Amino acid sequence: MKLIARRLRGMQDVIPGESEKWEYIEKIMKEQAKLYGFRIIRTPAVELTDLFKRATGETSDIVEKEMYTFNDKGGRDVSLRPEGTAGVVRAVLETGMHNQVLPLKLMYISSCYRYEKPQSGRYREFYQFGLEIIGGNATMADAEIIDLGNSIFERLGLKNIRLEINAICCEGCRDRYFALVRKFFDLNKHLLCDTCQSRVERNPVRIFDCKNESCKKVIRFAPLSLRYLCRDCADHLQFLKNYIDECGIELTVNPHLFRGLDYYSRTVFEFIDDSAAEPLAICGGGRYNNLSKEIGGVKINSVGLGIGMERLLEVMKRQGAKFPENKPCEIYIAPLGGPARRQSVKISHELRKVGIRAELDLVGRFIKPQMKYANKIKALYTVVIGAKEMEDKKALLKNMASGRTAEIDIDDNFVENFLRLREELDKPEIGQEESQAEQN
Ligand code: HAM
Repeated sequence: MKLIARRLRGMQDVIPGESEKWEYIEKIMKEQAKLYGFRIIRTPAVELTDLFKRATGETSDIVEKEMYTFNDKGGRDVSLRPEGTAGVVRAVLETGMHNQVLPLKLMYISSCYRYEKPQSGRYREFYQFGLEIIGGNATMADAEIIDLGNSIFERLGLKNIRLEINAICCEGCRDRYFALVRKFFDLNKHLLCDTCQSRVERNPVRIFDCKNESCKKVIRFAPLSLRYLCRDCADHLQFLKNYIDECGIELTVNPHLFRGLDYYSRTVFEFIDDSAAEPLAICGGGRYNNLSKEIGGVKINSVGLGIGMERLLEVMKRQGAKFPENKPCEIYIAPLGGPARRQSVKISHELRKVGIRAELDLVGRFIKPQMKYANKIKALYTVVIGAKEMEDKKALLKNMASGRTAEIDIDDNFVENFLRLREELDKPEIGQEESQAEQN
């Protein structure tokens, strides 16, 4: 039979060797976010398509081109989530969490789906670590989100990550600015690429993202939101810069940064890595004061960010960041024969019960291949239990690094026996101690 053994394009398996790295990153992220008072939220991977249309915008690339949309068996128009924020805000409104004391500080690690052209750092299934402060209008909330994102990168050992921010107007000043942008691009429409020509009417600020050379030339002269901010937006930006400065984080104001999601207002930002040929955004976020209203709820001023886990991992590897070693197998038990196997099952059960990583032969190998396996998994200690050892109720415990051995009783106190002998065998030998002292 033909093996159905191909994963879909743009999707990845995370196998042991890699999965430990993911585990480590997720652990640091959660630990750090908890320091700032964030709690975990989990939302479904599938939502009504309308949620994403209303949240990210009918004319966003995500909705127009990238969503995995289908009818479920009940005939509902549903989509796999292309990003995490919309589902979180929907869950807050639906469960009434926003009626509790605000702000809510929520974090999540969610798989997201976008039917994009797969390339390095761009997948069709990817994971986002998201942070949302729901119900916090103070500029300090924007600063806290950025500071937390930055502190995660620092803890993970990343270097030279650039922070870019922009202020893209609020409900108050947006209409006037958007009208100006539309007018400007309309006048220069003949110089724009086909995609951008179609954006002029529908979503003119999306043109700022275009990488086409002729569009870039036009964009250089386009009106910038920074010059059209209302008083509140201008103050917000100035305070944000001050607060971020207090956290010791460098930032650049990039007046062309708009980001591709329609729900943002006022603050947008990105953390960018330049260690590869092309700059790579490992994190993006911003303020979204209107999203909850847009999807039918009350207005809740909010701000958040999303970190692309695959991109983060890629950058960490590229920069040579350190990952912790895995906990080694502390003892490998090699049984030979039926009664020894039964004894080994008992011993390994007891060892694991007290938190010692123990392994035993599960394949029925002879002794030599068992020892080869113990070496491969880098077991620190081994013990071989055959018929003779069962009869004597004693076996040899071997420290695999030094080769030193000690006799261990195979009785009901095996765990204590092991802990005591391990301590002895872990100590350097007398001669070793002296040569160590001489070396020092
Ligand atoms: P986003 O910029 O679309 O924002 O995505 C956040 C991060 O996800 C990006 O900076 C990038 O690292 C990663 N990412 C995006 N698309 C892909 C892809 N195709 N493959 C791999 N990684 C990708 C959001 O999604 C917002 N929900 C962030 C947010 C949260 N804003 C407020 N709260």
